[in-house]
Amino acid sequence: MKIAVLPGDGIGTEIVAEAVKVLQALDLKIEMETALVGGAAYEAHGHPLPEATLKLAKQADAILFGAVGDWKYDKLERALRPEQAILGLRKNLGLFANLRPAICYEQLVDASSLKPELIAGLDILIIRELTGDVYFGQPRGRRIATDGLFPGAEEAFDTMRYSRPEIERIAHVAFQAARKRSKRVTSVDKANVLETFQLWKDVVTEVGQQYPDVELDHMYVDNAAMQLVRAPKKFDVVVTGNLFGDILSDEAAMLTGSIGMLPSASLNASNQGLYEPSHGSAPDIAGKGIANPLATILSAAMMLRFSLNQAAAAQRIEAAVKTVLAQGLRTADIFSPGSTRVSTVEMGAAVLRAL
Ligand code: IPM
Ligand code: MG
Repeated sequence: MKIAVLPGDGIGTEIVAEAVKVLQALDLKIEMETALVGGAAYEAHGHPLPEATLKLAKQADAILFGAVGDWKYDKLERALRPEQAILGLRKNLGLFANLRPAICYEQLVDASSLKPELIAGLDILIIRELTGDVYFGQPRGRRIATDGLFPGAEEAFDTMRYSRPEIERIAHVAFQAARKRSKRVTSVDKANVLETFQLWKDVVTEVGQQYPDVELDHMYVDNAAMQLVRAPKKFDVVVTGNLFGDILSDEAAMLTGSIGMLPSASLNASNQGLYEPSHGSAPDIAGKGIANPLATILSAAMMLRFSLNQAAAAQRIEAAVKTVLAQGLRTADIFSPGSTRVSTVEMGAAVLRAL
């Protein structure tokens, strides 16, 4: 089993280091190779996704990814910004299926900004299409308008776009995931306004006919954003496009009290996957040793389960994380009075002990 380790920027290096220790402690035959990505790669090689990093990622069975980005790169041309590294990896490896679970851990119910009864026991899975939509649709660019409200003015444009096969394959991922859970899928669209999402809704409905045992409903994205904070437990599997999924997955993550707890998987058709925490590079707390490594450690567990066929080892990690939470250990993001505050490294060490 070969893993490409791409820590990236900000807190990425600190949290990935802890996940690597956990993987090493498992006594599995895992080969790991580290490479630069994002702003760190730009500094060293002038590009956020250097050839060598992309090659390593392509050859690996799975990628353990930290985070990329820093405000200091905001002035760079778009093609050189750190975010292009993650977008480039998704596109080049065809990682179209992004699984973002939002689970509320029993011990962290009070960390949420929502009332405990709304989120206790919450366990939803957001499935975000990751290689299409307005993120990648062509054409895009800037020009001087020749029509519209202000001819002669500078304008910018992106293209929202989905093809039938792109929608079909992500719909299958959602229905299959639902079969292993409570057999309900909510497809989120904006079919009342956008042609792209009318096609989305039609295709998801068609694919759904192959899964008569799974209940499918449709929701407009604005309503979904509201229902997620009103009654989040009504959802089980949510499937949506790239842009809506970006937004709703952050919202769902925060319902659980801490985005620092949530892992994610991005898979291609051959189950090769990129695994990263749902949170970002958090440059404001980088280097302080206070970031929560649990989302990355749990991402390593997802990696073992989905790409490396090591479900038992994945379960061991997940159980170890529950143990340290039960012991009352908390990094700053999930701290509450009465618990024990620990650093990034101390949290990693506690997970190792629990393992
Ligand atoms: C995410 C991030 C990325 C995205 C950025 C960093 C490009 O927000 O993974 O959700 O928008 O997909
Ligand atoms: Mg996002």
